[in-house]
Amino acid sequence: MNVWRTKSIEQSIRDTEEPEHRLRKRLGPIDLTVFGVGVVIGTGIFVLTGEAAAVKAGPAVAISFVVAGLACALAALCYAEFASTVPVAGSAYTFSYASLGELIAWIIGWDLVLELALGAATVAVGWSTYFADVMGQLGVTIPDWAYGDGHNLVAALIVLVLTAVICFGIKVSSTINLIMVIIKVGVVLLVIVAGAFFIDTANWSPFIPPAGSPPAPGAEAAPSLLQDLGMPSGAFGVAGIFTAAALVFFAFIGFDVVATAAEETRKPQRDMPIGIIASLAICTTLYVAVSLVVTGMVKYTDIKVDAPLAEAFRSVGQPAFATIISVGALFGLTTVMMILMLGQSRVFFAMSRDRLLPPVFSRVNRRTGTPVRTTLVTGTAVAVMAALIPLSELAELVNIGTLFAFVLVAIGVLVLRRTRPDLPRAFTVPGVPAVPILAALASFYLMLNLPASTWVRFLIWMAVGVVVYFVYGAHRSRLQTDPNYTREAEEASRPR
Ligand code: ALA
Repeated sequence: MNVWRTKSIEQSIRDTEEPEHRLRKRLGPIDLTVFGVGVVIGTGIFVLTGEAAAVKAGPAVAISFVVAGLACALAALCYAEFASTVPVAGSAYTFSYASLGELIAWIIGWDLVLELALGAATVAVGWSTYFADVMGQLGVTIPDWAYGDGHNLVAALIVLVLTAVICFGIKVSSTINLIMVIIKVGVVLLVIVAGAFFIDTANWSPFIPPAGSPPAPGAEAAPSLLQDLGMPSGAFGVAGIFTAAALVFFAFIGFDVVATAAEETRKPQRDMPIGIIASLAICTTLYVAVSLVVTGMVKYTDIKVDAPLAEAFRSVGQPAFATIISVGALFGLTTVMMILMLGQSRVFFAMSRDRLLPPVFSRVNRRTGTPVRTTLVTGTAVAVMAALIPLSELAELVNIGTLFAFVLVAIGVLVLRRTRPDLPRAFTVPGVPAVPILAALASFYLMLNLPASTWVRFLIWMAVGVVVYFVYGAHRSRLQTDPNYTREAEEASRPR
């Protein structure tokens, strides 16, 4: 058994053409960009901006968004090259199967559960908070038995509703997504434009509060791994900009999910890079603007960490805006959950098609052209997680999982350039090897800026994954058992 065996790109592409595994190709560049913006703008900007400003960076959180955005841009270039070369469902998982071998591919697939399924559950819990808030404003109180830590039925219910929507097919999902994205971007623009009138520039000074400044009352910062290792304090100062960047990185999660839809894209070679890079650029611009406005409206020491945007408008005597923002956030978070789950089901689908997971997960429903069973299993698992686990602290676990995938994708680009220089690449990362190396280092650096407890959880999850691989997938892998595959793999591994 060779755990480093790779699956040739040609084989990956051929698999997508098998009738029982064929997904419908319906998406174009605009769909993909809207898809990207739909999944990216969410809890990060609506919730985490407040915490990042209040306990880590002050007004300099705007710089943190730039830092996190730059790290993502480097990774985005790598994702764009991969997605345009290997237009197959599964994103980072599929890319690493082609470049770094089966074990690493499995590890990445397992790791993506943190980004996609856990990410969706985390956002569902955030959604339930906004839902309760909006209902409260309408005079409806959600009963205690239906909503609270450890028994969040509201969060579970929204997840199940969205699961049903996804089952109807990618085109339905992307139409609903489009409507909600328009509302969400509208609300974000409203925050920027309306908020600009209430900026008091005195709130921006000091722009970078000195290291060790006390955080906003009622908010507490967990030290990062780097601090635990004796580096300078991560609260405020220049170091604070980076710890805040590692936190607000959550706000960018999702542009890479665009790559999971490669197989459902009509012209992936051209449209994948456009979709990935355009959504990232749009979101970074909006984030920097929002964070400048919010820290200009409220002194960072007075920011409310639960609903910073809405509270900023309440604090300047504009409660009506606050309500609009809450409703916008509700719509906004809905699409985030929907697309994260969509991405998760496509990753499971790809892993099952390769037999690293049971084969039932890769059957495509004839009527809808989507992997309905996988979607249902994914949705149920996310609903259970959202209902039972108090997830508010887990955003950072989602971050570390995603950053790790970025590191491996960046390395994978370099490896594939070396092992398969012959492949047609519609989009190529400029400045190889410097850009992929920088991409890997930037993501790794952000990982180091996360708390030690996050690292421990991450390492435990990954260790469990390795055990599962050796117990299940390693023996059943299609690359191991299907003679066509074996021959192909031999040819692929022969030096060229
Ligand atoms: N980027 C997504 C959000 O901020 C996950 O909610």
